[in-house]
Amino acid sequence: MKNLSHRLIATAFFVLMATSWTRGASSAAPAPAADATRGKVVYERYCLSCHGEDGDGRGEGGDWIFPRPRDFRQGMFKWRSTPSGALPTVLDLDKTITDGVYGTHMPTWYAIGERSRHDVIAYIQTFSPRWRAEEIPAPIAIPPEPAATGDSIAAGKALFDKLECAKCHGDTGRGDGPSSHDLRDDWGDPIAAADLTAGHFKCGGSPADIYRVFMTGLNGTPMPSYVDSIKPEEAWQLVHYIRSLHTGPDLPDVGPAGRPIH
Ligand code: HEC
Ligand code: HEC
Repeated sequence: MKNLSHRLIATAFFVLMATSWTRGASSAAPAPAADATRGKVVYERYCLSCHGEDGDGRGEGGDWIFPRPRDFRQGMFKWRSTPSGALPTVLDLDKTITDGVYGTHMPTWYAIGERSRHDVIAYIQTFSPRWRAEEIPAPIAIPPEPAATGDSIAAGKALFDKLECAKCHGDTGRGDGPSSHDLRDDWGDPIAAADLTAGHFKCGGSPADIYRVFMTGLNGTPMPSYVDSIKPEEAWQLVHYIRSLHTGPDLPDVGPAGRPIH
């Protein structure tokens, strides 16, 4: 009996050591570098039908899809944490590819796993010379969100009017402002001003995702950056106002793949 309990203790000790050693080893091991050659295989299998062999957004399905799949040749990306005009970070692209783009044909690619997503990002980066010529700047700082109150929502509404967001998004945020009918993106295609009342956002649903849209702008679209005209606390007021426009039941705080939004 005594022997058995000794043995049990020894085994438990060994298992404990082994797990902590593996954990230590896995957190110390560097993630494998993204591999564009492997990324090309992923791209051809999952992305080419829309984004095209040359990354020009003219895959077999490209002409039938609105909005059109992204043309990767200009290195212009909408959803970024980096300043207006800049390239996105790998994490920005990974977020879009993981979550998909709500309300468009861009699906979620959560299921292919992080390694394949990073490899395919490395391949996408071969389509534009910008990736070789430019540094990727640091993400913009986002200060902590103050509590949403009646006052912050009212201040956000006043800013929405003052900054003339309604020209495109409409007085009630439905995306039906006077300029909304003839908007085009930098690729020359028609583009809709987002309906801000639907409760779902292409940019992601968290308050920080919405904050980033005004402070970085959406490259390649008429949606400008307001970083030079609004202070961070005002940007939060706009976020509170926009989130108040959705009056239906609360939306779950998860991405399309059912995982928490980061
Ligand atoms: C069924 C069509 C379709 C497939 C397949 C598809 N996409 Fe897309 N993708 C789109 C569309 C449409 C958009 C543009 C959405 C928009 O601008 O509103 C897009 C946009 C993007 C963007 C641009 C995001 C930004 O910030 O501008 C990236 C990156 C992207 N896709 C990566 C991928 C990758 C990687 C794959 C394959 C693993 C893939 N897509 C497969 C349709 C597709
Ligand atoms: C010149 C027209 C224009 C003006 C002015 C404008 N926007 Fe936009 N906005 C757009 C367009 C177009 C899009 C959609 C881009 C897309 O779908 O790719 C957009 C997208 C957005 C989104 C993201 C929606 C989503 O689904 O992810 C938010 C939030 C937003 N705008 C808020 C604002 C606010 C707040 C203002 C004023 C401070 C403003 N916009 C001013 C044209 C405009």
